[in-house]
Amino acid sequence: MIKFMLNGRGVETEAPSTTRLLDLLRDEFGLIGSKEGCGEGECGACNVLVENRVQNSCLIPIGAMEGLDVQTIEGYCETPRYQVLNECYSTAGGVQCGFCTPGMIIATEALLSKNPQPTEEEIREGISGNLCRCTGYNMIVDAIQLASKKGEGLW
Ligand code: FES
Ligand code: FES
Repeated sequence: MIKFMLNGRGVETEAPSTTRLLDLLRDEFGLIGSKEGCGEGECGACNVLVENRVQNSCLIPIGAMEGLDVQTIEGYCETPRYQVLNECYSTAGGVQCGFCTPGMIIATEALLSKNPQPTEEEIREGISGNLCRCTGYNMIVDAIQLASKKGEGLW
């Protein structure tokens, strides 16, 4: 049995330790905000925070999660920081089809929590692990710049 913290509560699973974290989240816990894009660590659609660091959940076997703290987009949605990001992504047009958005939001949280006032270059670097087919990235960069102003003091 593997036990870890998931969105602030203790969970346990009997799934094999080699099960991908992404599959466990979606199939056992019904947390379908994390998406499978590439399945190879290239697109960031499956991003979650593990101990407050961005990880591709498609690459992590759940055996590595024992005792750790995992936050998915569903847990993050409950935070005031998310409210700011949600508003700024909407305002800037950073959400189009939405497939990349949960992973992008998680990457944004990780970026702003380390660097609340990033430069444009630092923003582009911060989201470089995330692919978006729709926005051309500029609107996402705008959204993050806006969030770093509007959310001043939150990060
Ligand atoms: Fe995990 Fe693309 S699905 S990085
Ligand atoms: Fe469609 Fe990013 S909004 S992939």
